[in-house]
Amino acid sequence: LNYHVPRTRREILEILLKGLLRLEYRGYDSAGEMRRLLIKQSGKVKALDDELTKQQDMDMDVEFDVHLGIAHTRWATHGAPSPVNSHPQRSDKKSNEECLLLKCICVFFFFLEFIVIHNGIITNYKDLQKFLESKGYEFESETDTETIAKLVKYMYDNRESEDLSFATLVERVTQQLEGAFVLVFKSVHYPGEAVGTRRGGPLLIGVKSDHKLSTDHIPILYRSLGINNIINLDSLLLRCPGSAVIEHTNRVIFLEDDDVAAVTAGRLTIHRIKRTAGDHPARAIQTLQMELQQIMKGNYSSFMQKEIFEQPESVVNTMRGRVNFNDNTVTLGGLKDHIKEIQRCRRLILIACGTSYHAGVATRQVLEELTELPVMVELASDFLDRNTPVFRDDVCFFISQSGETADSLMALRYCKERGALTVGVTNTVGSSISRETDCGVHINAGPEIGVASTKAYTSQFVALIMFALLMCDDRISMQPRRREIIQGLRVLPDLIKEVLSLDDEIQRLAAELYQQKSVLIMGRGYHYATCLEGALKIKEITYMHSEGILAGELKHGPLALVDKLMPVIMIIMRDHTYTKCQNALQQVVARAGRPIVICDKDDYETAKSSSRTIKVPHCVDCLQGILSVIPLQLLSFHLAVLRGFDVDCPRNLAKSVTVE
Ligand code: G6P
Repeated sequence: LNYHVPRTRREILEILLKGLLRLEYRGYDSAGEMRRLLIKQSGKVKALDDELTKQQDMDMDVEFDVHLGIAHTRWATHGAPSPVNSHPQRSDKKSNEECLLLKCICVFFFFLEFIVIHNGIITNYKDLQKFLESKGYEFESETDTETIAKLVKYMYDNRESEDLSFATLVERVTQQLEGAFVLVFKSVHYPGEAVGTRRGGPLLIGVKSDHKLSTDHIPILYRSLGINNIINLDSLLLRCPGSAVIEHTNRVIFLEDDDVAAVTAGRLTIHRIKRTAGDHPARAIQTLQMELQQIMKGNYSSFMQKEIFEQPESVVNTMRGRVNFNDNTVTLGGLKDHIKEIQRCRRLILIACGTSYHAGVATRQVLEELTELPVMVELASDFLDRNTPVFRDDVCFFISQSGETADSLMALRYCKERGALTVGVTNTVGSSISRETDCGVHINAGPEIGVASTKAYTSQFVALIMFALLMCDDRISMQPRRREIIQGLRVLPDLIKEVLSLDDEIQRLAAELYQQKSVLIMGRGYHYATCLEGALKIKEITYMHSEGILAGELKHGPLALVDKLMPVIMIIMRDHTYTKCQNALQQVVARAGRPIVICDKDDYETAKSSSRTIKVPHCVDCLQGILSVIPLQLLSFHLAVLRGFDVDCPRNLAKSVTVE
């Protein structure tokens, strides 16, 4: 945070803390912030806030004309969540001067030479640490980040000229770093100045001004060209992602890899070492389409609950302006220039992680049917581990709510290098994946804050189906099927509402199940993805063991787990797998299992063999997976609440995993 309008200490801290709160869903093991003091705490941002309130010796009403603060929430990679491992990390330990250890809180008053906050992983940190130790540096934390704080000091102390700028110093430091990082630095040697840079992770600058800016772009300063002009802005916030800045401004600049941005008293410069082919020589000031109210909970007890109940609207937003229910056509502006090329491709590869991967599994069958192409669905990390062969005539889809997941982003770069056409399916305009892919579809589900993804899944599902429909829009033989699916999309929002009305019933079911250790979820065909996704939801937020099982594999192992005590949920819908699902149901019942079955509302046959049924409305087969997953979203939510857990911030998880 860097303003040059007067602010009291209280205001500055409030702005920083509120920003951290808005970011907390992304990673929240520990938090720290720095203005003229450094305060850290493990746990939630609230704990940091409580400790700040206790700081009696801080005069909250002192006003500062020029001020600069940085704040960070951490999701631990190297070193457990603890005050010493949380960020900012510092270059020097001033233990004898001012370190007060107050119940695990470190408060370091005044001037630390260099401090840094970091998202990402530095892969060569051990080598750097060894080098710095040989120069006499002592390390206090277990983080890779601390090596950056020490390295910047080492390079500063060994600079060849007195007038080395902060931005150049940071640039030199980043040249020594390997891995992925987003960094923001502050130093007593460069008062009032913050420098931020990124490689492989997102960083944006929020721009706030009381009067109209004379420009809508910031020219890049190429050091090799020796240009030195500066853009004056009234005030600036340097943070990622948009949700932290949206209550201050919706105007932002997305930085590119290796940009070095320096902010001093409201003046911004963006540097790069030299201009290379394809570099855009300016960064545009863009307007975020996010509303503050979209990132507030409203009347719901958690973001996850709000997002589950938003699904009738979020799927409409995914289809808005794209599906015409009168003439059964689909338009996807982000693909229109590439659709012919995609139609000529050899295969489609859907690459993603977590819930987004399940959206690929859920729609694979209908994609195969409507495109008549082979479709592979890949977990990004495994896809990279296998060095999977990719060719120029492949089309690779990157499905990602955040558009920032490191594994998916690495896989995207891997596919691009091999000449494949890349398509993004993301929920975040301006995210790395949406910017680096050749073309794509924004799912427009609105900001998703709950760590366990819900509305993004159903919108990804719909977006991939819209793509499949577009691929076959000129195939006469496909028209009846296309019409059936498009009319299914038309009624989908109402059917989702009908499923959501089962909430009370599902809450009662949760009350019966919440003390169990394990839940098995079985299904096949279109509903295998629902099993995987339902089990993931339960694992993520209830910490119960849960497994999604392909019903066709039941007899090859999982049946051994079934007895009268094991909770089993089965998904049985009236589609082409119905008879086979009935067989699986009988196999479970024959082993004394007492399955809870999610089925079509008029399926009396299935109800007879089930100990309990959750009846959902019927829809066209390839969309039915949207209706079968919602009861499991609700069930996981109620289980977590009954078990007393924070559904929005499950332990050890982060919303956006920007490390490999
Ligand atoms: C994390 C989140 C999951 C999400 C996955 C992929 O693990 O906790 O909810 O499904 O990342 O995220 P993406 O943003 O790429 O969809």
